[in-house]
Amino acid sequence: NERKFILAGNWKMNKTNTEAAEFVSKLVGQIKTEDKFEVIVCPPFTALEKVRDITSSSNIKVGAQNAYYEDKGAYTGEISVNMLRDIGVEYVILGHSERRHIFQESDELINKKLKKVISSGLTPILCVGEQLEEREKGLTFNVVERQIKEALYGLTEEEAKTIIIAYEPVWAIGTGKVATPNQAQEVHKFIRDLLKDIFNEEFAKKTTILYGGSIKPNNYLGLFGKPDIDGGLVGGASLTEDFVELANIMK
Ligand code: G3H
Repeated sequence: NERKFILAGNWKMNKTNTEAAEFVSKLVGQIKTEDKFEVIVCPPFTALEKVRDITSSSNIKVGAQNAYYEDKGAYTGEISVNMLRDIGVEYVILGHSERRHIFQESDELINKKLKKVISSGLTPILCVGEQLEEREKGLTFNVVERQIKEALYGLTEEEAKTIIIAYEPVWAIGTGKVATPNQAQEVHKFIRDLLKDIFNEEFAKKTTILYGGSIKPNNYLGLFGKPDIDGGLVGGASLTEDFVELANIMK
């Protein structure tokens, strides 16, 4: 397997700067990473610099949860990729279902953000996934295909090759209802085949595809054992000691 395994923690809107510093100091002492296995933490913007300072003595990497596509200017409340890069951020989560559904981010906006993040040299973690109603109507593959095709629209193979994809079925996010290893594997395989259609087999083989949605230390092993699942994007369990346990399972 030529792919990098990744455990990424998306803290969402949790932890003050003080809480973040305290928590991440513990992680640094307890998580040992290796070359083929990367650990990323994605705190809120306010804690990014502090967390980067604390993790700089370790292999733990830092990601943001969002970014805007313009360089600077009159965009109240937004954060540019340069601002992120300047403080040592390396990854950016884009298209998370909460951004899509609570903040009405469209595929078109996500495409613009993705292009910007890539051209700035940061690594995007592009999230896709169907809602419960869509799954029940048998539309899972259609939704995921549309989200990926529209996100990648206009990108060349060369530009797209750093992308990490995270499959997060919306019905599994924060619900305690994890997808079964087979349900997740089926969609991951679909995504990999789609990447092969859009680009080529080599590209598909090299792309890391994470699963996200109610991952816990007690349900992770089955998912992680599937051939097309290359790690996890973890929400709730990334805020506690569970994250250390997950990192140890990954090793
Ligand atoms: O980005 C992370 C996902 O939304 C998963 O969240 O682990 O709390 O279900 P969760």
